[in-house]
Amino acid sequence: MNTLRMQLRFLVPLVITLVVASYLALPLMDRLTLRWFSRDVNLRGELLTNTMADSISEALKDPLGLRLQVLFNRAVQDERLVAIGLCTLNGELLRHTPAFPRDLGCAQATETAGRKDPQMHIEGGSVHVGMHPVKADNGEHIADLVLLHDLSFVERRSQDTQKYLIVLISGLGVIIALITVVVAQLSWRGWVSGARALLRGEGLISPLISTSPELAPLAADLRSRLRDLEDEYRRSLGPETIWNPERLRALLRTQLRGDELIVVSNREPYIHEDTGHGTIVKRPASGLVTAVEPVMRACSGTWIAHGSGSGDRGSVDKHDRVLVPPGKDDYTLRRIWLTEEEEKGYYFGFANEGLWPLCHVAHVRPVFRENDWQEYRKINQRFADAVVAEARSEDPVVLVQDYHFALLPALIRKKLPRATIITFWHIPWPNPESFGICPWRQEILEGMLGSTILGFHTRFHCKNFIETVDRYLEARIEHEHSTISFHEDTTFVENYPISIAWPSDTTMATWAPVAQCKERVLQRLGMPPGHRIAIGVDRFDYTKGILERLHAVERLLEKHPEWIGKFSFVQVAAPSRSSLEEYRAFQDRIQNTTRRINERFGNDSYQPVHLLAEHHESDALNELYRAADACMVTSLHDGMNLVCKEFVAARDDERGVLILSRFAGAAREMSEALIVNPYHVEETADALHRSLTMPEAEQRERMASLRMTVHEFNVYRWAGRMLTDAGRWRLRERIEARVQRHQPGVG
Ligand code: F6P
Repeated sequence: MNTLRMQLRFLVPLVITLVVASYLALPLMDRLTLRWFSRDVNLRGELLTNTMADSISEALKDPLGLRLQVLFNRAVQDERLVAIGLCTLNGELLRHTPAFPRDLGCAQATETAGRKDPQMHIEGGSVHVGMHPVKADNGEHIADLVLLHDLSFVERRSQDTQKYLIVLISGLGVIIALITVVVAQLSWRGWVSGARALLRGEGLISPLISTSPELAPLAADLRSRLRDLEDEYRRSLGPETIWNPERLRALLRTQLRGDELIVVSNREPYIHEDTGHGTIVKRPASGLVTAVEPVMRACSGTWIAHGSGSGDRGSVDKHDRVLVPPGKDDYTLRRIWLTEEEEKGYYFGFANEGLWPLCHVAHVRPVFRENDWQEYRKINQRFADAVVAEARSEDPVVLVQDYHFALLPALIRKKLPRATIITFWHIPWPNPESFGICPWRQEILEGMLGSTILGFHTRFHCKNFIETVDRYLEARIEHEHSTISFHEDTTFVENYPISIAWPSDTTMATWAPVAQCKERVLQRLGMPPGHRIAIGVDRFDYTKGILERLHAVERLLEKHPEWIGKFSFVQVAAPSRSSLEEYRAFQDRIQNTTRRINERFGNDSYQPVHLLAEHHESDALNELYRAADACMVTSLHDGMNLVCKEFVAARDDERGVLILSRFAGAAREMSEALIVNPYHVEETADALHRSLTMPEAEQRERMASLRMTVHEFNVYRWAGRMLTDAGRWRLRERIEARVQRHQPGVG
């Protein structure tokens, strides 16, 4: 039925078209034939006149005109010539044959012959009227000959032509109709099964391919192009509402009634260093600072942190405060001072020799010393006092950052019971068994449960934490709401994947073009133009998988010697925690391995590994990100890792390949990266080779998608989600307090 309808849909317009075409074409054909024959008849008349000119000129000498009459009578024996007349130059009809119309004078003949359509009707049908000058020997115009030609043969021929035309059009119509019916039949079936296949997700063109395999590459190309366009469209739409500083500020104003934020972290966002030539300001290599700083710029407030720079004391006021960023003064940095002894116990000892390896489970034994623990407690108390001192209300919003302050939430809660305390743990949380190693596990958990909201990067870490509490504390856990109630307090445990601030258009406009970045980096490192580079950017830390990365580079050069001399790996390793034995040993190991690989594959002009063990400012890193063919993030365990997000944000050219460890929290969001197990050297080496040989289209595809993710899931969203939850929590508490006040017996 559908096929029939479909065919009719083709046939009816076709028939109408043919009828209209015939209707228009036939009269046109008639006129054309007539014009062609008129032209023929005229030529013929001219020829005849020229032939007869001499005879006419002679015959005119005969006073009786008999010779002229004979001449004309003979001429009209031609079946097509109906009549002849001879006009003098005065327009008088001198002689004519019998069939010459009586009412046709010379003047009328001249007028008719001059028309576009020189025809007239006489008895017996239409005739063509031709007027031809007769010239004497000497070329003198002596008279005009009027020739009347029979046109009935034209009509006959025109009818014949019409017949042929009608037969031709009808024949064509039938052939086209037949073809249409067949094509409609075939394509209807094709479309139906194509549509079905499409609904099944097999694509519209698969049925064609199964019958014509030679179309397969074309179809694949078409399919991928369609998908590209679809993706492009989706990307161009972007996320519905992107999180940005304005939105975050608006959230603070509305949901948190404009309360001032207090951030607490060990690492400060700006470090003043005394040099021989004055004081300089440095930005530390820290994921925490990268993420929290733009949030503080947007929200203002106070950031309390350890003043660790040699020029820090000289740059604060009498309350140990300094406005930052320098020159912009968006928020207050309140510095806390530690003695060397305190720093050694609290920061290097308990935090970085104990909790850091404990939480990372990176095959380095955690060390727990009683003395370190006491320092840790003392310093946590010092920071808690600073929070209380900085708070301008009894219910501030306090953002506690990281494993340096596990005890802080409960300490703040004691002094400011109505504070909203959001604690974010920037490193992984291990399973209960691993955490059980810590001699002060109970105190740590109790300290953390002073938080209103406790955030981790991933669900997996939240789950580990809840299970740890379940194992070691008498607490009420509501899995459905992800809350833990301990004593009087309830803590909401949630995952908030951290991110970076997506660069603004104005910032991106200041970046040098990628080609220029590459040229500068290659020049600086003494590499020839066209040399390929992969980069690694990390703190010099054993959890970052730097050694495994070097092994992968070595394996790549073994497996693919064609890269020797053409590819180098550049590792930026910002010095970190270098006073710890474990870190020093690790740094030595990396230096040795680098040297060994360079000796094995390098020569005077070629160095396969460049180890840049020094601090790099963000502009220099951005240039490196833009210059790199690939970026290797191979952490053995990482809460999130922001280097991979910075690399993606830097690549507005949508090129470059990200190789990402499956043990970094970021791997859950950035699946378009080449995901590797860094312990599997072979796999990482293969990924490196793949990144260096990856077609540009694939790079673009992956990078564009990664950029969309990082743009949308930016750090303002991270902070925004936590603050929204905090706002909801505060509202709930206020309602509860009001309800209690209205209960009978409650004063
Ligand atoms: O990643 C964990 C972390 O503490 C971050 O919070 C911080 O960015 C980084 O390590 C830097 O460590 P440190 O402050 O010890 O230099």
